[in-house]
Amino acid sequence: METLPFLPEADDGPTLRVENQTVFFGTSENMSRIDDNAADFVVTSPPYWNLKNYGGMENQIGQEGYREYLNRLNLVWGECFRIAKDNAVLVVNINSRRHQKQFYPIPFDIAQTIEGWKLWDTVIWYIPNALPQPNHYRERLFDNKFEYLLVFVKGDPEKHTFHKPRVPQKYLTADPRSHKRNENGRCLGNIIRIPAYRPPNVKESGYHVAAYPEELVALLLETYTNPGDTVLDPFLGSGTTLKVARHMKRSGLGYELNPDFQTLIRCRIEENWAVPDWKSLDLLHSSTMETGTLKPRKVQYHKKPQDTTYRLFEGKSANGYSELDPSEPEA
Ligand SMILES: C[S@@+](CC[C@H](N)C(=O)[O-])C[C@H]1O[C@@H](n2cnc3c(N)ncnc32)[C@H](O)[C@@H]1O
Repeated sequence: METLPFLPEADDGPTLRVENQTVFFGTSENMSRIDDNAADFVVTSPPYWNLKNYGGMENQIGQEGYREYLNRLNLVWGECFRIAKDNAVLVVNINSRRHQKQFYPIPFDIAQTIEGWKLWDTVIWYIPNALPQPNHYRERLFDNKFEYLLVFVKGDPEKHTFHKPRVPQKYLTADPRSHKRNENGRCLGNIIRIPAYRPPNVKESGYHVAAYPEELVALLLETYTNPGDTVLDPFLGSGTTLKVARHMKRSGLGYELNPDFQTLIRCRIEENWAVPDWKSLDLLHSSTMETGTLKPRKVQYHKKPQDTTYRLFEGKSANGYSELDPSEPEA
C-alpha cells in the first residue's frame, strides 16, 4: 500500500488530490495534517500585508497589524521547518510595502524574525511589466520593478541540492582563464527576468490571486530539487507551485485557506504546460542583451457570477501567452 506523508482522512478541512499533488484547505499556521520531514523543498509567496483580500476568510493573513502579520508568518515558517527535511531549502517570494508614508521592509523583517531557517541567499525577480506602486507619492520614487526571493536553508548550507541552470556561453573560448570555462555553459545571474501575470480583474475572473509565473517556480524546482522530491507551498493560491511540480515529476503538498479556489486549483494543476528554456529567463546577464522571449501572460481561468466552475477565457492562444501591448513598459 502507498505510504502518504500526511493524514488523508482529516475532518478539519477538505483535501484535494490530483495525481501526486495534494492540497489541504485550512490555515497553514497549523499544518498538522502533514508529517515531520515530509518535504525536500518549500516555495511560496505569502499574502501581501494590508493590500489584498483573498476572499475575506476568517484566519486570512495580511489584514492584521504589521507585527502581528510577521508573527503569524513566523508560525507558518515554523511549520515549514518542521515539515522540511534536513538540508531542505525554503524560498520566499516577497516585496516591501509602503503604507501611510511609512516604508515596511518586509523581506528584511522576515529574514530577521524567522526562526530555525538560515538566510543563505537572495535573488532578484526582475518584473519588466510590474505595475506602479499604489500610493500617491510615487512621483518621488523609482518605479518598483522587482521582488525578492529569500533563500533559506535548514541545516548545513553546503549540503542542500543545487543544480546550476546553465545557458550557452557565447564567448566560451574568449576567456583566457581556461579553468573558468564550462562546456555546459554559464550559470544564470541572480537577477531573473520573468514577466508577471497580468493581474486578475476580480469582476472578470471571479477571484483575486496574485499568482506568480510558472517559469519562476520551474527555475527553482530545477535548481533546488530532484525528480521525485516533495515540494510544499503553504500559501498555494491558484495552485501554480503544484502545477509545475506535476509537470516536473515532483510530488506536491499545498495549503490554501480559501476552499473556493478548489476547482481553480484543480484546473491549473491539470492544464498543459511545457518546462521553459532557461535562455528565455536570461536578459540582464546576457552578453548580447537580447530581450528574453517570455511575454506577459494573462490569467487563464474565470468564473461567471453564481457559477461554481472555472473555465478558460476565450480567444487565448494555445500556449496561453498574450501579445505584448505596445504601450507595455519594457526595459
Ligand atoms: C499571494 S497568494 C499566493 C499565490 C500563489 N503563489 C499562486 O501562484 O497562485 C497568497 C494566498 O495565501 C492565502 N492565504 C491567506 N491566509 C492564509 C492562511 N492563514 N493559510 C493559508 N493560506 C492563506 C490566500 O488565500 C492567497 O490565496
